[in-house]
Amino acid sequence: IGLGDGENFAASDIAAMVRYTNKVIHLNDNELASLTRDNFSISTAQAKHISRPTETVEWLPEEAEKNGFPHFMLKEIFEQPETIMNAMRGRLEISEGVPKLGGIIPVWEDLKKCRHMVIVACGTSYYAGCVGRYIFEQLTDVDIEVELASEFRYQKLNFPPNTFILALSQSGETIDTLAAIKEAQRKGARLLGIVNVVGSLISRETEAGIYNHAGPEIGVASTKIFTSQLTILTLLALLLGRHHNLSLTEGVTAIKALMALPDQVRQVLAQDNHIQAVAEKYCRCSNWLFLGRKYGYPVAMEGALKLKEVSYIHAEGYAAGEMKHGPIALINPDMPTVAIVPRDSMYEKMINNIQEIKSRKGPVIAIANAGDAKVKELADDIIEIPETLEYLSPILSVVVCQLIAYHCARFLNRDIDKPRNLAKSVTVE
Ligand code: AGP
Repeated sequence: IGLGDGENFAASDIAAMVRYTNKVIHLNDNELASLTRDNFSISTAQAKHISRPTETVEWLPEEAEKNGFPHFMLKEIFEQPETIMNAMRGRLEISEGVPKLGGIIPVWEDLKKCRHMVIVACGTSYYAGCVGRYIFEQLTDVDIEVELASEFRYQKLNFPPNTFILALSQSGETIDTLAAIKEAQRKGARLLGIVNVVGSLISRETEAGIYNHAGPEIGVASTKIFTSQLTILTLLALLLGRHHNLSLTEGVTAIKALMALPDQVRQVLAQDNHIQAVAEKYCRCSNWLFLGRKYGYPVAMEGALKLKEVSYIHAEGYAAGEMKHGPIALINPDMPTVAIVPRDSMYEKMINNIQEIKSRKGPVIAIANAGDAKVKELADDIIEIPETLEYLSPILSVVVCQLIAYHCARFLNRDIDKPRNLAKSVTVE
């Protein structure tokens, strides 16, 4: 419910009315509202009156406009230096190498003792969770799993004591994620959320959480939220890790690397013309493959999803180690492979994958660190990203994938902000 001046509004998403009012009231399931121009009332299905506080949305009306960009998707890709900064704003305590996350204070005494977590999410948020799993393994002593919410909710759930479920959701309204956390709660798990829409259902169902503060994401294909989620997952893992075995030095190193990210994303965005040219070269190919290992594997899956969603080109994201178990049979001159190959712990194995593909005449588009002569010699096209800590590299490599998908869709004249068959938030099964 949006409360205006001499007018009131009902909408399924705040973004639809933020240009008219920033005063909103959220309804729960099975609640009724009646609106007139100057008044409103909320009641239960049994007509029992409900009084509910008005919330003020921090979003600005212009954030729900394209502001000169041809599409919301491109605007939101280019907003990422700011949204990554917003995810960290007021949350970094560099001298101690410890983030400050006020949203989890209500559960902190139990959370810091937690040694078992499960991340649940859908779509792009799930792929962010897949990166988050490796980040938690790198920085904390937590035993962490990541599950597709739509599968998790049907599993026989048996949690160790003090298990925390971490729900990732931009909209905070995704029905599979909501159902998954409710099922987990029935089985005794504690609930945390990383959500973008303030006051959304998931943000209200979880005991505590961290807001993205990324502003409205209007484009159906999620972009800025993915990098915001990775930033916040890193902050949460760093906070826990600094209460586990992570040293002050490691904490300060991590925070300095996080602070460098906005400018490093700007360096990637500065290659937009080159990325556009690469997209134009391959956008007529009917099938693409995205390959990565460890931190690069979820980026490969997310890159494939972006391309599918907005350009309707078939693409698969694969663990590069799986190539010899079947997918290498697909390689052919008309099937480009995007290889995510930063100079990290998986580098040599990724180089081998690229060589295998090239020997079978498959074109390779490499996402590699600046100045990598070996990859430059091997790949047909190379898009360079700055060097950063291994667990932060996905934030840079995914921006390349987002721009590849966007430009392919543009060359193919797709409805980029509202791709066919898709909704921004999947609130029904
Ligand atoms: C992402 O590009 C898609 N639009 C979709 O996969 C989305 O990430 C998924 O539906 C989850 O949405 P949520 O983050 O709002 O829960």
